[in-house]
Amino acid sequence: MPRRGLQAWVVRIGVVLVAVCSGLSLLYVFACSPRSDDGLAPLPRVNAPTGKEGYQALLQEREEQHRHYISSLQKQISQLKEALEQRSEQLRSMKDSLKLAVGTPPSGPPGGEAGRSRVDLQEFFHSQLARAEVHEGTKLPSEYALVPFETFTLHKVYQLETGLTRHPEEKPVRKDRRDELTETLETALQALNSPWEGGDPAHRRVYSPGDFIEGISRMEKDKGTLYELTFKGDRSREFRRLVFFRPFGPLMKVASETVHTANMLINIVVPLARRVEKFRHFMRNFREVCIRQDRRIHLTVVYFGKDQIKEVKGILDKTSKEMNFRNFTLIQLNEEFSRGRGLDVGARAWRRGNVLLFFCDVDIYFSAEFLNSCRLNAQPGKKVFYPVLFSQYNPHVIYGHNSAIPPIEKQLVIDKDAGFWRDFGFGMTCQYRSDFINIGGFDVDIKGWGGEDVHLYRKYLHSHLLVVRAPTRGLFHLWHEKRCSDELPPEQYKMCMQSKAMNEASHGQLGMLFFRREVEAHLHKQRHQSPDRKS
Ligand SMILES: *[C@@H]1O[C@H](CO)[C@@H](O)[C@H](O)[C@H]1NC(C)=O
Repeated sequence: MPRRGLQAWVVRIGVVLVAVCSGLSLLYVFACSPRSDDGLAPLPRVNAPTGKEGYQALLQEREEQHRHYISSLQKQISQLKEALEQRSEQLRSMKDSLKLAVGTPPSGPPGGEAGRSRVDLQEFFHSQLARAEVHEGTKLPSEYALVPFETFTLHKVYQLETGLTRHPEEKPVRKDRRDELTETLETALQALNSPWEGGDPAHRRVYSPGDFIEGISRMEKDKGTLYELTFKGDRSREFRRLVFFRPFGPLMKVASETVHTANMLINIVVPLARRVEKFRHFMRNFREVCIRQDRRIHLTVVYFGKDQIKEVKGILDKTSKEMNFRNFTLIQLNEEFSRGRGLDVGARAWRRGNVLLFFCDVDIYFSAEFLNSCRLNAQPGKKVFYPVLFSQYNPHVIYGHNSAIPPIEKQLVIDKDAGFWRDFGFGMTCQYRSDFINIGGFDVDIKGWGGEDVHLYRKYLHSHLLVVRAPTRGLFHLWHEKRCSDELPPEQYKMCMQSKAMNEASHGQLGMLFFRREVEAHLHKQRHQSPDRKS
């Protein structure tokens, strides 16, 4: 009985299989058999060979398309594989470091003690990131509480705290520093090249270290280190920005964005009274950098008094005519010079919506790269940029009184004999007009020079806006003689002289001047001794 039942069952299954097969073949006949000519839309009809040749051409074209598709799929697969390997590697190293940190044996049960500590640790890292000044500014009591950034490129670090070497710029000498920056750059490149970084995979380019422009980083000693890296984008005037945080643990990616700067106009506001020669020099740089290279600039000059205003107007008109440049405004005020008042009037004079402002003086020299830093480090409602400029020493001291002083472009090098990071200056800044208005602008009661800039800077520190302060490669304060007036009271006169000394030359060079007699005597003696030595 069970045997006959089995046979019947097998027969029934057989019948069903046959039925299914014939159904499938019928379906195939209906759905997949070649259609009549009318159904073949892409077949060339007019002026084209019909029949066999036409089909062959069509087939060839199809084959070509499929080959392209396959190769693009293969490319994507290999990218995915690579990314998977990197991820597994990261995961492995993270697991290992976690095990080390937690101290459990490597074969601990998953999801147990180790799993819980891992989750705890992840949570801790995220809480450190949330506490750090990354997404939003922290209210700071004073300028002393701010942690400045360092700037780095592929080979150099630009630092305010110069340590043993005293170099304002150097190749990172310490191995831990080198490794840290290399790892961050590599992680950034991996992120940029990973297949899930958006964009059309067929048209994506591969990012290499050569695309890295510069980065800034700063460590909050109880939280971790923040990195912001800028790369060239896919088009000109486009940049890729990546933000990482290292909470004394593995790097965490915080943000990745594309910044389009093509429409970011900068309004450069320059307050001025007399100093026409300085202004002429300023405009020479302005022509080259702003008009020839950058081409997204407006210039607002706020002139105090009537003295020499004709010359200033003449310089502006000449530039306008020769360069076909109309983006400037000259405002004249019949008042006593006040830098804060000038900048305030200049900033408010703009009536065409929001704009990025750059407050600048005539004795400042900047590069086209600086203008991009300005665009990348200021963001309305979020960030203001307070670059630390490189202050040039007296060129007569740097290059010696007698030898020829090189042209200004050649003088602008960052090294310890040429100048120093002016970390006490807050006058040059990039911020959006909306932020400037919202914070209340300058305190216009302050007359003359000094004080007004620190006042504005402090207002930003007290606010929720992020203040980005970093040594900036393309921004120089040119040396000019500082006069300490005889009318100053003794205490102020002393302070003025100290400041003058600091701007004049490096400690070493001032020493050479101070000990000049000894140095000359030494040279004299050597000259007399040298014939003896030679014989
Ligand atoms: C002049 O200003 C306009 C916007 O007002 C801007 O589009 C243009 O690029 C500027 N030209 C130059 C040479 O900077």
